[in-house]
Amino acid sequence: MNAPFVPPRPAPPAEPPGLPAFLAAIRTNAIGVWGPEAYEREWVTGRAIRRPWILLNAPEAIQHVLVDQRTAYRRTPASIRILWPITGRGLLLAEGEAWRWQRRTIAPAFTPRAIRLLLPLMMEAASAAMPALAADASSGPVDLLAAMQHVALEVATRAMFSLDAARFAPDLRGELGRYALRLARPTPLDLVLPPQLPTPRDLARLRFRRRFVRLMDAIVAARAGQSAVDAPRDLFDLLRAARDPETGMAFTPAQLRDQIATLIVAGHETTALALFWSLYLLASVPEVQERAAAEVAAADLSAEAVSTTLPRLELTAAVVNEALRLFPPAFTLVRQARADDCAGGVTIPRGSVVMIAPWVLHRHRRLWRDPDAFIPERFLPDAPPPPRFAFLPFGAGPRVCIGAQFALAEATLVLAAVLRRFRVARAEARPVLPAPVITTYPDHAPGFLLRER
Ligand code: HEM
Repeated sequence: MNAPFVPPRPAPPAEPPGLPAFLAAIRTNAIGVWGPEAYEREWVTGRAIRRPWILLNAPEAIQHVLVDQRTAYRRTPASIRILWPITGRGLLLAEGEAWRWQRRTIAPAFTPRAIRLLLPLMMEAASAAMPALAADASSGPVDLLAAMQHVALEVATRAMFSLDAARFAPDLRGELGRYALRLARPTPLDLVLPPQLPTPRDLARLRFRRRFVRLMDAIVAARAGQSAVDAPRDLFDLLRAARDPETGMAFTPAQLRDQIATLIVAGHETTALALFWSLYLLASVPEVQERAAAEVAAADLSAEAVSTTLPRLELTAAVVNEALRLFPPAFTLVRQARADDCAGGVTIPRGSVVMIAPWVLHRHRRLWRDPDAFIPERFLPDAPPPPRFAFLPFGAGPRVCIGAQFALAEATLVLAAVLRRFRVARAEARPVLPAPVITTYPDHAPGFLLRER
C-alpha cells in the first residue's frame, strides 16, 4: 500500500512567537502561533498583550470549559467585534436568557427528522449546480472555492428560507469577501479594548454593518413577500411564528434579520470550506477519489431516494469528516474566563483567553495515529471512534454547532453530486496551504480540472 498523502501545511514556528510575530500571525495565518509543543502537550500557556492565554488539549479541561462550567466563560471582545457586524444579535453571539430562547426556537428546525425532510431539497440544489460547473470546466481550470461557496449559499438559502440565492448571491458574497480581506482581521486594539469602546477599525466595521443590514433587510423583505401559507414550511415561517414562552413576544424585525444573517453566513461559509478541502484532498489522491466515485456511482442520487442513499455514502462521508479533521473550518474556539477558575488541573486566572483549537487537537501527536496524513478510513463506521473531545469540528456542549447534521448531510450530498459527474484533478502543482483568519481559508484559490466521467 502507498504511504498516505500528507497535505502540506505551514511549518510551526521553532520558538514561541514574540509579540510582533504573534500579532502578524493572528492577522494573516492564526495557526502560525502554535509551536511544536502545542501538538504534544495537554495544555500550553503564554502571555500576549498583558493577558494570559491558555490552549487546552486535555479532555477533562475541554469538558470543563465547554460543557460543565460553560457559563463561567464568555466570547472575547475580539470575537464579538469581528462577528457582530455580520451576525448582530443572532444565535452565535447571544448570551444568557436571550441565547436560551433563541436556541429553543431554532432547534426544532435542525432535529434529525427536520433535516431528513430537507434532504431532497439539498440534493436538488446540489444537482442543479452541476451544469454551471460543467460549463465553467469546459473553458479551463475551475475555482472550486468560489464554486462551493456558490452551491453552499444556494443550499442554505433554499433549504432554510425557500429563497432563490441567484438574486442576491453576488452582493452577499461580494460584501463577505471584502469583509474577510480586511475588517475581519483583528488589530492590536481590537484585542485589548473592551467591546463597548470602539477601535478605529470598528468605525469601518460599522459602515460595513450599515450596508450589510440594508442587504439583509432586502433579502428578508423578498422572503416575507412570498405568498403566506397556513402551516410553517421552513425556518423563516418558524422564526416568524416563534413566541417567547415567558413574555409572549415575537422576534422584532431586527432580531429576525440578525437570526437569518447568522444562519445564512454561519451555515454556508463553513460548509463551503469543508467541501473545498474535501475536493482538494480527493484531487490529490486519485485512488481514494475513484473509490468514492464508485460508491457514488452505485447510489441512487435522485431527490426521492436521498434519505435511503445518504447513510450508504460511507466513504464519501468519511472523506468529509477527514477534511474537517485536517482543515477544520472553525479552527479555534476562543473564550474569556469571567473569574478565576481551574479546568482539569490547569489554573485559569480571571480575564485569561482560553482556547480550544480543533486545528491543534485534530493533529495532536498523542491523540491520532499519523495525525497529518489523509486517511479517510479512520471515519468509516467500523473504525474505532476518535478519543473523547479529540474531534471537535462543530465544538461541544450546549453551544455546539446547531447546523452540524445539516452541514454533514449537505457536504456529503454535494460531494457525491460532483464525484458522480466529474473526475477532479489539480490544474497546478503549487502547494495549497491553510491560512486561517476567521475560518480556514486556503492561502490562494487554486484551479482544478474537471473532466466529465
Ligand atoms: C462544516 C460546517 C460547519 C462547521 C465546521 C461549523 C462549526 C461551528 C462551531 C465550531 C461552532 C461552535 C462555536 C463556539 O462554540 O465558539 C458553531 C456554532 C454555530 N453554528 Fe456552525 N458550523 C458549520 C455549519 C453550520 C450550519 C450549516 C449552520 C446553520 C445552518 C451553522 C450555524 C451555527 C450557529 C447558529 C452556531 C451558534 C450556536 C450557538 O451558539 O448556540 N453552522 N459552528
